[in-house]
Amino acid sequence: MNLLTFDSHDKLHESGAGIITGLVQTNPRAVLGLATGGTPVGLYEEIVKSYRRGVVSFREATTFNLDEYVGLPEDHPESYRSYMNAHLFHHIDLPRGRAHIPDGNAADPAAECLRYDELIAEAKQIDLQLLGLGHNGHIGFNEPDHALNSGTHIVKLREETRRANARFFDSMDQVPTHALTMGVGTILKAKMILLVVKGADKAEIVHRALTGPITTDCPASLLQTHPHLVVLLDSEAGRLFQ
Ligand code: F6R
Repeated sequence: MNLLTFDSHDKLHESGAGIITGLVQTNPRAVLGLATGGTPVGLYEEIVKSYRRGVVSFREATTFNLDEYVGLPEDHPESYRSYMNAHLFHHIDLPRGRAHIPDGNAADPAAECLRYDELIAEAKQIDLQLLGLGHNGHIGFNEPDHALNSGTHIVKLREETRRANARFFDSMDQVPTHALTMGVGTILKAKMILLVVKGADKAEIVHRALTGPITTDCPASLLQTHPHLVVLLDSEAGRLFQ
């Protein structure tokens, strides 16, 4: 594991964006696994800046997002499709047909999960998977449980996850109860994992995930088994590592 702590968010975002754009520069056909949420917003801004400076193109790249809410219309401002359009896809030259997100409105969610896994399998391997971290140790929407799913599946969101995400909605009852998420097996198959964690409220969970027991009670702890894990922390999240 390669763990870096940054004293400014700007430097953290530049570093994370640099890892992703560097990969796409050397391998224009890279397959990227992407995340949403508050954490990667600044990192996507840096990627867009690099694209605008002409130093990177996503024309031949492919992306797979980790997850999508079930039942939010695709054009709802808080759908993860809308998020990705607003923060990244609408600002770079990634072909729309290769920017994949699970369809949270599919009539048959189980079939949609299989379709998503087949698409990932066709792409062979995710070269880099970007991850944020939930307060309860979730990655994607793989919530703590007695067992974890390997492939894409439908998940009932834990109350703490819905509460954490309620900040993006007008009220708690508007936060979806379910999501489709890539499984931990798929996440761990990525060639490289880039975990980004910010904020004092995540200091304990990131420390537990990376140094504590490997357990499905803390899905992110499985990242300890990955051979190429890069972790970027701000100084608040990295407090317990110093
Ligand atoms: C988002 C995702 C989630 C978030 C996590 C942290 O696609 O899969 O695991 O990364 O909930 O969210 P933020 O960054 O909002 O604290």
